[in-house]
Amino acid sequence: MELEAVKKIYAIYSNVYDAVFKRFFYPRISYAIKSMDIRPGDRVLDVGVGTGLSLELFPRHCKVVGINLSGEMLRKAKKKVNTNSMDNVELYEMDAMNVDFEDDSFDKVFISHVVSVVPDPYRVMKEVRRVCKSGGQVVVVNHFKSRNKLVAGFEELFNPISKKIGWRSDLSRDEFIDRAHLNVNKCYKLRKLDFWEIVFATNVK
Ligand SMILES: C[S@@+](CC[C@H](N)C(=O)[O-])C[C@H]1O[C@@H](n2cnc3c(N)ncnc32)[C@H](O)[C@@H]1O
Repeated sequence: MELEAVKKIYAIYSNVYDAVFKRFFYPRISYAIKSMDIRPGDRVLDVGVGTGLSLELFPRHCKVVGINLSGEMLRKAKKKVNTNSMDNVELYEMDAMNVDFEDDSFDKVFISHVVSVVPDPYRVMKEVRRVCKSGGQVVVVNHFKSRNKLVAGFEELFNPISKKIGWRSDLSRDEFIDRAHLNVNKCYKLRKLDFWEIVFATNVK
């Protein structure tokens, strides 16, 4: 997916995103963040923060920095930040493939429903590993290609359409983990038959 195409699609989604996607995405976002053991003073990067569904879930005792490519999605997130006086949150319009932060700036990185949206997930993960401290936590929530061959076949077939509506459906979890150099502690599904998975990893540099 090209960067400009992604921008255009998510500008359109920004108006309906919470109404359409919250019911699907929020339970995993919530489980993942509550499992993160975020300590007072931790700096957390939320990559592709979108409309900010995650923001209210982070404890106020940590600093949250959200980045997102689409200014329109970010405007919705800013509204949530202002309405709920989240003084611990900063938001920036930024490409996750070229992150404008110094090495080792964050204790934890959260990245939900983004790695199959960006043009190059491995460039994003290289940036994630760079800006996250060594020993820091990286948590990825995403849809990965099914390990059931029949379902995986449908997902590959559906992929050209899926890309047109904003994400790819053929990303293999094991290949992603391997190529992203993630030191995985746990992979977790909320339900046995779930489309989405949460990967908890430690950043080893
Ligand atoms: C499916 S939404 C997920 C939003 C949020 N993380 C969530 O779970 O609800 C994907 C988000 O990734 C953002 N995005 C896509 N490409 C990006 C990039 N290269 N850099 C930063 N954000 C990007 C989109 O603008 C969109 O807000």
